[in-house]
Amino acid sequence: MLTTDILIIGSGISGLFFAMKTAQKRPDLSIVIMTKEAARNTNTQLAQGGIAVVTDLIKDSFNKHIHDTLRSGGGLCDREIVNMVITQAPERLKELIEIGTSFDKDEKGRWNLGLEGGHSQHRILHHKDSSGLEIERKLLKIIRKMPNIELWENHMVIDLNTETRKNKTTCTGVFFYDKKHNRIKYIRTRTVVLSTGGCGQLFENTTNPKIATGDGLAMAARAGAEIVDMQYIQFHPTALYTSKENPLFLISEAVRGFGAHIVNEDKKRFLFKYDIRGELATRDMVSSAISKELRLSGKDHVYLDCRHLNKAEFYANFPIIAAHCNELGIKPEKDLIPIVPAAHYQCGGIKVDQNGTTAIPNLYAIGECARTGLHGKNRLASNSLLEALVFAHQASENVDRTIAGFLFSNRILIPKFPKAHQVDDYLAFEILKKELQKLVTAFYTNEERDADLTFEKIKELHNYAVSLTQTHEITIPFIEFSNMIAVSLIIVKQCKASNKEMC
Ligand code: SIN
Repeated sequence: MLTTDILIIGSGISGLFFAMKTAQKRPDLSIVIMTKEAARNTNTQLAQGGIAVVTDLIKDSFNKHIHDTLRSGGGLCDREIVNMVITQAPERLKELIEIGTSFDKDEKGRWNLGLEGGHSQHRILHHKDSSGLEIERKLLKIIRKMPNIELWENHMVIDLNTETRKNKTTCTGVFFYDKKHNRIKYIRTRTVVLSTGGCGQLFENTTNPKIATGDGLAMAARAGAEIVDMQYIQFHPTALYTSKENPLFLISEAVRGFGAHIVNEDKKRFLFKYDIRGELATRDMVSSAISKELRLSGKDHVYLDCRHLNKAEFYANFPIIAAHCNELGIKPEKDLIPIVPAAHYQCGGIKVDQNGTTAIPNLYAIGECARTGLHGKNRLASNSLLEALVFAHQASENVDRTIAGFLFSNRILIPKFPKAHQVDDYLAFEILKKELQKLVTAFYTNEERDADLTFEKIKELHNYAVSLTQTHEITIPFIEFSNMIAVSLIIVKQCKASNKEMC
């Protein structure tokens, strides 16, 4: 039987950082990282902005960063967690730098700190506009060299297996789909770490890649973990509007920190009507102001105005954004950039404690799939890579302390799933996914929404998907779609229970 001491699901910053730290500390433990596509295909590598860390204790302070985080979170953050993450940040940053991650400096060798919405100080360390890509590359390079880590790309986890003895439930392994060999397999393990990212693909407009289908959250829910705050999906205000792209290209909040304005059809700034911080208000404020403006005007986008900015500096700081705009025939130095808010980040998720532990003691959740208490209702910009590092560290320390108490289960489990034949059902599920995205988006953004009706319609879609699999066995699109359905139902239920206002 396939066996590993620790199984990590997902290959973004949290999973890789956890793997690196644990492998260094415990060379006696075997670690497998499973990821459903190529290892680099993650949300992390799309992260542009950077990492919020207090590095300048003269102008800035931990207290200011804590205050900004709590304010952005709208009263729903866990203060102890916020303290822990922000005060630990410099140590985690040091570890990233030690493995060769580079962050921009000015001509005097000082950090070139960026500013983003909701931050009272410049404190974002960044690698031009490709901070996530830089971190992902450096971590993957290290991981691939570590003798006790195996990286299994193109392996999709279907479900967690749990066992309950003497009223204690533990996770004993996972069923997964080996895409290369077209087989469903089982691996037993002593610890599982979910680092599967978010669920942006539930929405029509999203900055998240196609892989962001809420897999980890859905499987954790099926295994009995607690899921909370899923009514708080963060919309990023400045996704590049191109009529029907998925995902939409992100234009970093750092561009507004650099001085860009948001304007309407009449080329007029309007955000100060909604918040005195204007373009530098928190994301929830800016996105909701844009949505209101769009409802009033009946238009489908507003604009980002960068024309007044220094062209050479703009191109030097945002080379990827500038190149992408140029490819579409938009010259930021003379054209307005059409933008629209897009689903960007899941603030809720699998409930964990300060060590990343879920309600199942050897099941951890870190990164975007986890709800740690840091973000509250609305994550402060550039706090997510930071949270991923800190919770990867916390979970790694906890696994080191506790893994001795989790033994391999001796029960040999025969997978319940039929041998799958991948058939060409990607197209059928693409259509179903679009239907689901329409339903979830309409529900989440509509004043007149009806939770019960949406719930029923989502279930109908699922029944239809199940009927497809009766003719041709379980497939990857079906697994992803079922996870998306499960997460959609949780969002609808939690919005209804909390009476969350529309976005
Ligand atoms: C951005 O660069 O605007 C995204 C960074 C983040 O999501 O915090």
